[in-house]
Amino acid sequence: MYRTHTNGQLRATDINKKVTLAGWVQKTRDKGFMVWVDLRDRYGITQLIFDAERTPKAMMETASQLGREFVIQVTGTVIERESKNPNMPTGDIEILVSEISVLNKSLTPPFTIEDSTDGGEDLRMKYRYLDIRRTPVRNNLVFRHKVTMAVRNYLSEKDFVEVETPYLIKSTPEGARDFVVPSRMNEGQFYALPQSPQTFKQLLMVGGMDKYFQIVKCFRDEDLRADRQPEFTQIDCEMAFIEQEDILNTFEGLTRHLLKEINGVEVGEFPRMQYDDAMRLYGNDKPDIRFGMEFGELNSVAQHKDFSIFNKAELVVGIAVPGGNSYTRKEIDKLTDWVKRPQVGALGMVYCRVNEDGSYKSSVDKFYDQEDLAKWAEVTGAEKGDLICVLSGDTNKVRAQLSALRMELAERMGLRKAGEFAPLWVVDFPLLELDEDTGHYHAMHHPFTSPKPGQLELLGTDPGAVKANAYDLVLNGNEIGGGSIRIHDKKTQAVMLKHLGFSEEEAKAQFGFLMDAFEYGAPPHGGIAFGLDRLVAILGGQETIRDFIAFPKNNSGRDVMIDAPSPLDKEQLEELHLKVEL
Ligand code: AMO
Repeated sequence: MYRTHTNGQLRATDINKKVTLAGWVQKTRDKGFMVWVDLRDRYGITQLIFDAERTPKAMMETASQLGREFVIQVTGTVIERESKNPNMPTGDIEILVSEISVLNKSLTPPFTIEDSTDGGEDLRMKYRYLDIRRTPVRNNLVFRHKVTMAVRNYLSEKDFVEVETPYLIKSTPEGARDFVVPSRMNEGQFYALPQSPQTFKQLLMVGGMDKYFQIVKCFRDEDLRADRQPEFTQIDCEMAFIEQEDILNTFEGLTRHLLKEINGVEVGEFPRMQYDDAMRLYGNDKPDIRFGMEFGELNSVAQHKDFSIFNKAELVVGIAVPGGNSYTRKEIDKLTDWVKRPQVGALGMVYCRVNEDGSYKSSVDKFYDQEDLAKWAEVTGAEKGDLICVLSGDTNKVRAQLSALRMELAERMGLRKAGEFAPLWVVDFPLLELDEDTGHYHAMHHPFTSPKPGQLELLGTDPGAVKANAYDLVLNGNEIGGGSIRIHDKKTQAVMLKHLGFSEEEAKAQFGFLMDAFEYGAPPHGGIAFGLDRLVAILGGQETIRDFIAFPKNNSGRDVMIDAPSPLDKEQLEELHLKVEL
């Protein structure tokens, strides 16, 4: 037996017990006549003591030669500590060691294995196995496990069956590029890794599985951000014989259960917001509603004077910053510079102070009088002591810019409070989205999403106006899930694909299997997929999903630990019928 106890287990009640422990040397303190060692494992730290009066000389020597991260096993007696440490669960005791064996030595680690380390991100990723020994990283992985287990148990209890679907498939369009795998046995042909199991879960519904879920890896070749990884995990779900209302209720139930189980937070019924309202009020389809600062559209109260910048703008829109009148001129200039950064892209910012005496002072006083500005305050909901920030330009761009400003200000003002959870369903998404570069429409969710009843005809005349039976679940300003009610008949699916620019042959070649299945009694169905990494990070009070993934990729999509991707040798390339010329 390697150990009788873990390093987080022993207490004062264990005094006088003979125990065997194993673990890593966190640190040693050597006073010559006395050596203390902190022994660490996943469960905690236990202090060992070697004492020249009671410990044989050879063992004293071994103890004093222990280096950081050596793996050792010790046997000894639990004794009461002279100077107790109330900050440690094992702080009342120590182990007077009688036997020690060094199971493995260690090189000096490239960074300190402590809660706050001196290692930078790159170094920690290269030696991720050492990083995982650190408590915060380990805790995040354990936290993820807890969330995953809670999800599995909940869904299983609700009669969902976890079914695995293949990874080597044909492209499933979710709006990103595919990762592809060349086929050795089929020269010149490639598998695609799933961007999601979308078509398979629909086929499972045709197969009568009724309620499916899968905690599943998905692969998307897209630009990376804090909340995006090229391979990530979904809680993928699908149900048959349901309407949108059933899906929203079921998965609101799951989310509420997780918030209670994991965070001890009770939340009421989730509010629902139309996509159009989310865009109008927050400039964003995933608004953080933990705080207000809703947009006020100012066209009607700002385009009647000679200020040409506003007059030629498609949208003039502002927000009231609570207490913002206390900002100095310099601070406001800095804010203006912030919105003018290329990442945000505004051309400038107009502001209006709401003074304590109820008067207004704006950066455009030349054009607008007190009466005009009072209307701005009314539309944006600004009160005495606030600052109104106004941007103008093309509707889509200016909404995105003001949304970025709203989030930045909220962050600075501490309004995005960890531990506070504001879930929100965003519903009634448009079915199609215009790609401004190509001028073509593509599916906003995916091509299998059904239009709202009676809207199919609109596809031919006003495609941008068609609404879908599609919904997103937003938590604290992050899209943690998205889904839709699906098309389940071949004819509608064919019309949809035609509008997305697929010829009949292309549609058959890419989605023939699904359309054929629809001809054999496909039930009405729909579903949702949660981003597990995002969900876990947000429940854990953070937004960077990398911290909750054991072996994440860096911003260039590389695993710096195993050094992937990497070139293949010539033979392997030939076997795969690939010619690579660099
Ligand atoms: P969607 O594309 O909205 O829907 O994805 C579902 C959820 O997955 C998460 N997500 C990601 N997480 C980390 N890194 C990424 N690169 C990434 N991309 C997406 C998000 C998102 O809400 N098949 C449909 C679901 C359905 O219709 O049922 C789908 O995949 O949290």
